[in-house]
Amino acid sequence: MEHVDLLIKNASELATLAGSSQPRTGQMMRELAIIQHGSIAIHKGKIIAVGKNVSYSADQVIDATGKTVMPGFIDPHTHLVFGGSREFELDMKLHGLSYMDILAKGGGIQYTVEQTRNASETSLRKAAVHRLNTMLAYGTTTCEAKTGYGLEPTTELKLLKIQNSLHTQHPIDIVSTFLGAHAIPKEYSVEDYLQQIIKEMLPKTKGLAEFCDVFCEKNVFSIKHSERILTEGKKYGLTPKIHAEEIVNTGGASLAAKLGALTADHLLMISDKGITDMAQAGVIGVLLPGTPFSLMMKKYAPARKLIAGQVPIALATDLNPNCWTENMQFMIQLACFAMKMTPAEAITAATFNAACAINRQHQVGSLEPFKQADIIILNCKNHMMLPYHFGINLVGMVIKKGKIVQKQSIGF
Ligand code: NIG
Ligand code: FE
Repeated sequence: MEHVDLLIKNASELATLAGSSQPRTGQMMRELAIIQHGSIAIHKGKIIAVGKNVSYSADQVIDATGKTVMPGFIDPHTHLVFGGSREFELDMKLHGLSYMDILAKGGGIQYTVEQTRNASETSLRKAAVHRLNTMLAYGTTTCEAKTGYGLEPTTELKLLKIQNSLHTQHPIDIVSTFLGAHAIPKEYSVEDYLQQIIKEMLPKTKGLAEFCDVFCEKNVFSIKHSERILTEGKKYGLTPKIHAEEIVNTGGASLAAKLGALTADHLLMISDKGITDMAQAGVIGVLLPGTPFSLMMKKYAPARKLIAGQVPIALATDLNPNCWTENMQFMIQLACFAMKMTPAEAITAATFNAACAINRQHQVGSLEPFKQADIIILNCKNHMMLPYHFGINLVGMVIKKGKIVQKQSIGF
């Protein structure tokens, strides 16, 4: 009998998400490849074997009887590093002010930009570590992080450096995105700011970012601006992502398809043409239901239409000062209760498809031999309990690269 570092045995449900390495669409989003009474052997940070009869001896054995085991959540859209907070905006929202009303008053992103520019690197890092610790406690083992609260070269670069150093220092793996085009800073015209991004910022992202993102929205960056920035970004090896169709339909989804973007995110106002274009080009739709929730909007992204239209769907928190949550379990719950996704679809969107949304599907996102051992053990008997039993932390244990990094007292 072979010997391994860690054996998790007899999970009541082991949701492996094993299967194709392509982003899952349509009916495939409902296939979690569940093994009942499943076990998983882990050695040197990697998964060695998965199945019903895994006969390995191990240094450490975890009895997962009555529990659900699945890949760690992947959060493919966060604005992780920012200064300050905006809890006072909740009162404004309750008085009927919209996201754009608050932004036009100099609040919103602009307020956070000021707070971020004035914050020391140490305090920004400390606040981000706190958020990462919360993410880990709620089962997130990999995330994406965007800049965008600097809006000038020095601070944008500082944010990129913080993201990259946190990636090496924190158990959570962080994939970096440059989002210099998050808003137009007060001191510039759009055209001048575009020149700044193109001349002063993009050339400095080398080795620090994999993706380039734009907030493509009415009165922010137009389709033309977005195309220019994302096309320039490609010259530096940055894969396009786009904040699209969040408040007004501007055609951002079709632009994503045209440019070969990996993802288009938000999509509340997506048109039928946008759906067809994304499906044809294979652009992943990253849905962020925390945002309409925190803005008290009646409308959520049309997940059912997107799935029917064969667009692969991922879920993310959008963690930012307007929508402050680190909790992917809550996103799965909103996906089911507000967007009518099934539990299995939501779990695929928060694990395997989320890995695809940051180009990490060959390392993480499913429990298959030779993938990184990023695993969560839930204090519940099956995956359907995850949305059903909502508003609490069901994650009992988090294993990152084969090491137990989080253990809740309840259930273990
Ligand atoms: O994805 N919409 C643009 N960016 C963020 C919000 C940022 C903020 O309000 O600070 C988003 O929702
Ligand atoms: Fe965002």
